[in-house]
Amino acid sequence: MKKTICLLPGDGIGPEIIAQGKLALEAVAKKFGHEFIFEEALLGGAAVDATGEPLPEATVDKCKAADAVYLGAVGGPKWDGLEPAKRAERGLLGIRKALGLFANLRPARLFPELAGACLLRSDIAARGLDLVIARELTGDIYFGAPRGMEKRNGKRVGFNTMIYDEDEIRRIARVAFKTAMGRKKRVCSVEKSNVLETSRLWRDIAIQTRMEFPEVSLEHMYVDNAAMQLVRDPSQFDVILTGNLFGDILSDEAAAITGSLGMLPSASLGESGPGLFEPIHGSAPDIAGKDMANPLGTILSGAMLLRLGFDMPAEAETVENAVRDALASGFRTGDIMEDGKTLVSCSAMGREVAARIK
Ligand code: IPM
Ligand code: MG
Repeated sequence: MKKTICLLPGDGIGPEIIAQGKLALEAVAKKFGHEFIFEEALLGGAAVDATGEPLPEATVDKCKAADAVYLGAVGGPKWDGLEPAKRAERGLLGIRKALGLFANLRPARLFPELAGACLLRSDIAARGLDLVIARELTGDIYFGAPRGMEKRNGKRVGFNTMIYDEDEIRRIARVAFKTAMGRKKRVCSVEKSNVLETSRLWRDIAIQTRMEFPEVSLEHMYVDNAAMQLVRDPSQFDVILTGNLFGDILSDEAAAITGSLGMLPSASLGESGPGLFEPIHGSAPDIAGKDMANPLGTILSGAMLLRLGFDMPAEAETVENAVRDALASGFRTGDIMEDGKTLVSCSAMGREVAARIK
């Protein structure tokens, strides 16, 4: 099959990890006889430096014309002082919005090969950890208006608006229930309906939408409790359905307990058009340019691109197996290093994985 992939390497370690992700996809194309055409566009700080804007028009156009978008990471201290509209992160939020990517799937699982890196007590880890966070991605307090910072009665105030309409909740709820149908058929809807109106609506719509999926069980949990349960006993979760802000926070937590933020992939999908695939971690400016980053979250995002973006399950599995095999062979980047394993660079890890795809 012939497919176009738009690469958005971004900032910090972004270009290093995307290079390894691309290597894996090239190996897949070769093995399975596909033709992947790679385009590249600017996003985030890299785009600010080149054009003055974190999300140039040309980038939106290239992404829309592609079959999938493959993103590294954006942001860094260099651009932190800029006015809000020019910050690198605005580029990321802008491309999600421009492509209508309302559904963000973040699977967190414990690779048996990395059990030693898991932060949980061993009896808790032994119960297993294999969940997916279905995070709403284009609404909530991230985009709600009014927002701003101004002077009121001589004092500076900052304000944002947490807002969801029922259609926005329904469409992400459907994605969560559909995802659960392919798994253990359990959805836990996470909100704060003891305090927030948006959350009360969220719970109502979750209950309504479940009627369309009678085989799936639905449970509700307040976000503070969910944060606690994630470390107390993550084995209780299958699919977590939640809003943009709560999903942002809980997905870092879910990632960290698996052992490393560097391992976790994500897929952002819309109603139609190209999906966007990116690791959940940030641009890690402290190790940028040092060839030290863990490329596995990016490579596994490439597997999600193949499975969910291109409907290529066998190809996706080949990539996932190659990652597991590289880990089983003892190769580790610094973030997941343990005694007795072989410390490798970002690019060496990428080569190990690509070699196992061929
Ligand atoms: C993420 C990131 C982004 C978010 C930032 C960089 C804007 O934390 O993808 O989780 O908050 O969505
Ligand atoms: Mg985040």
